[in-house]
Amino acid sequence: MASDPNDPRSGPARVRPIAMDLDHVDPSVIGQAAEFLSQDKLVVIPTETVYGLAAAATSKPATAKIFAAKGRPPSNPLIVHVASVQRLGDAADADRLGALQSQLAVVADLWPGPLTIVLPVGRQIPTTVTAGGTTVAVRIPDHPVALALLAECPFPIAAPSANRSKYVSPTLAMHCVDTLGEDVAMILDGGPCRWGVESTILSLDPTGPRLLRPGVITAETLADRFGVSVDHLCQDLPPVTEGKPLLAPGMMREHYSPRTTLRLIDPASDPISPERTNLRRGRIAFQPLAPERASGYEVVETLSPSGDLEQVSHHLFAAIRRLDQLGLDEIHVDTCPPTRLGRAIMDRLMRAAAGHRR
Ligand code: TXA
Ligand code: MG
Repeated sequence: MASDPNDPRSGPARVRPIAMDLDHVDPSVIGQAAEFLSQDKLVVIPTETVYGLAAAATSKPATAKIFAAKGRPPSNPLIVHVASVQRLGDAADADRLGALQSQLAVVADLWPGPLTIVLPVGRQIPTTVTAGGTTVAVRIPDHPVALALLAECPFPIAAPSANRSKYVSPTLAMHCVDTLGEDVAMILDGGPCRWGVESTILSLDPTGPRLLRPGVITAETLADRFGVSVDHLCQDLPPVTEGKPLLAPGMMREHYSPRTTLRLIDPASDPISPERTNLRRGRIAFQPLAPERASGYEVVETLSPSGDLEQVSHHLFAAIRRLDQLGLDEIHVDTCPPTRLGRAIMDRLMRAAAGHRR
């Protein structure tokens, strides 16, 4: 329960989420959120991917608060959200966008949507946001609450995922209350995030497009649109393979792990043998398990009746968080072929397992 701000014994107050009607976004709540942002305060916002920890992107003190609240290293730059393609120049260097127009035209119709594009940074964006680099990651989120807030604000909004650094991204407003509720002025509850996995990140520069993070807008779709091979587009990504963690932990520069050891399981592998049942294990299955495969587990969460990957990504992070609360010794998670949406799911699962693969 939220503590009473008037009770000196109760410690810092945690903000309660404000439930938003997505069909009629309340302008007075949006006005209050915009006011908080203009005062350099932090606000948790829903997007169609994951919840974001928002601050005015043009303010150095406000964006510095994001790093402090998340415990995020200052070397990791933030994504900046803008209201429309017409307002890309609020974050990017408008003079240098001309040279990228033909590449932008290939993907601009995917906005608003789960796509972030790395572009030359404009002078109005402080170095806190870009980690001192020459580029800025920009996206237009497809969520009525985020879009209403962006339309209300005269500045762009910096928002990384609203989790403590290195933890799993939040896909429900309640995920943000315990960890960030004391650091933010407001939490806008827009319901469960539609996709449940962070945006695709695409870098554009005169040498051509490169994928920096797989997401719902798939590598296959982008490669097809740009007329390049998936391998070419993905050359800067760490290799992701089905069920077989090829990577040393150090290769996953960023990992997002639960506290509980997370192991990736080939869904066709043998059930847990009875002599190995001394550990308390939980299982996240992409589709219903046969009884003999479910038997070694204290708890099984099934993400989809059919193994549909959109349902899997929608529910995955919340399931990891729920099982992480249970004090288990291990969480076992299904794997899938690392193509299309499966590439994004396997990328996040490899990162979640990387923190434990020692
Ligand atoms: O779906 C999303 O993108 C969510 C919602 C809230 O919009 N945001 C999100 O932000 O996932 P965050 O901070 O958790 O992830 C941002 C990623 C980081 O891996 C960061 O390194 C990368 O974007 N990034 C940011 N700016 C960049 C830049 N200029 N060049 C390359 N990568 C950049
Ligand atoms: Mg994040």
